[in-house]
Amino acid sequence: MSLTATRVIRMFTGLMVVYQLVLLVTDLLHLMCRSLYLTLRTAWCTLSPPRPKSIVGEVVLVTGAGHGIGRELSLQFGRLGAKVICLDINETTNKKTVSDINLEGGAAWGYQCDVSSREEIRQAAAQVRSDVGEVTILVNNAGIMPAKPFLRHSPEDITNIFSVNIFSHFWMVQEWLPSFITQGSGHIVAISSIAGLMATSNLVPYCSTKYAVKGLMDGLTEELRYADRHPNIHLTCVHPFIVDTGLSKNPRIRFPSINVITSPAQCATRIIDGVRREEEVICIPGRDYYFIKLMNILPREVYKAVLDFFDTGMDEDDE
Ligand SMILES: NC(=O)c1ccc[n+]([C@@H]2O[C@H](COP(=O)([O-])OP(=O)(O)OC[C@H]3O[C@@H](n4cnc5c(N)ncnc54)[C@H](O)[C@@H]3O)[C@@H](O)[C@H]2O)c1
Repeated sequence: MSLTATRVIRMFTGLMVVYQLVLLVTDLLHLMCRSLYLTLRTAWCTLSPPRPKSIVGEVVLVTGAGHGIGRELSLQFGRLGAKVICLDINETTNKKTVSDINLEGGAAWGYQCDVSSREEIRQAAAQVRSDVGEVTILVNNAGIMPAKPFLRHSPEDITNIFSVNIFSHFWMVQEWLPSFITQGSGHIVAISSIAGLMATSNLVPYCSTKYAVKGLMDGLTEELRYADRHPNIHLTCVHPFIVDTGLSKNPRIRFPSINVITSPAQCATRIIDGVRREEEVICIPGRDYYFIKLMNILPREVYKAVLDFFDTGMDEDDE
């Protein structure tokens, strides 16, 4: 190769390196400006939250609608003008929720469905499509919480907790997400728990499923937002502390005025408000969000010492 050709190649390589450096610096500057803008916007939205969107006419499907948080969510969505699809394994309590919504002047439909069964979810979805149409807001709420030491959970117990608390979310999302994508909009809400951010004893399988709910929602959020493909499909993951529904049978709370138990109505109101403002993560009470962030930057031994100090958790269920 001639000397001139070698020089040209060297010069070209040098120019490429400079070009890539300029691109990298531009990208970094863009990232810094964007991060600053988004931080300021988040701070502004915290001080002055956006107006909640209307949900009149939305078709909201709530699992576990027969009792507790699911029942309250269904009633409150009904009062706000949504068409409410109630699913529960318990036909009697589910029918009561449906008739209470209809008595209040709302519109509700009920379907008995064991959400741990993919086949029952498919059948219920087909019925919902023929009776009401496509769902626009999916609320994966149904859950169970047996509390006992790890080695006393039978394999059947563990399988069932996973089937109800997490696999049901997968089957539900696989059932309804395709129509959200076709419509170009939709909202998926998942009820995890504070136990999905901070594990506790006697609830090892339960905590595992609630961490998995967070994993599912975080992963799905990333997949749907990649390349801004689905800007109008929203996801909200909810992490309540104890709610007074009877699910938590033997809560142990050292400072009840700090670790406050919420009523199902308060919990549902907060969830619906967050959904209407398109919040991605909701902790109930809200300050738990910051507490857990702080706990996670502490050294592990300090983290455990703080947990010991608060001495808050779940004693095992009475047999
Ligand atoms: N109550 C709390 O302290 C608390 C705290 C954090 C998170 N959560 C979560 O909130 C959700 C609702 O809890 P809750 O306290 O309202 O419970 P709940 O026991 O009051 O109501 C749960 C409802 O789900 C239904 N259900 C149970 N298994 C089902 C199945 N296989 N198929 C269909 N429906 C089924 C029940 O029949 C019941 O109507 C759960 O996912 C729970 O883990 C509850």
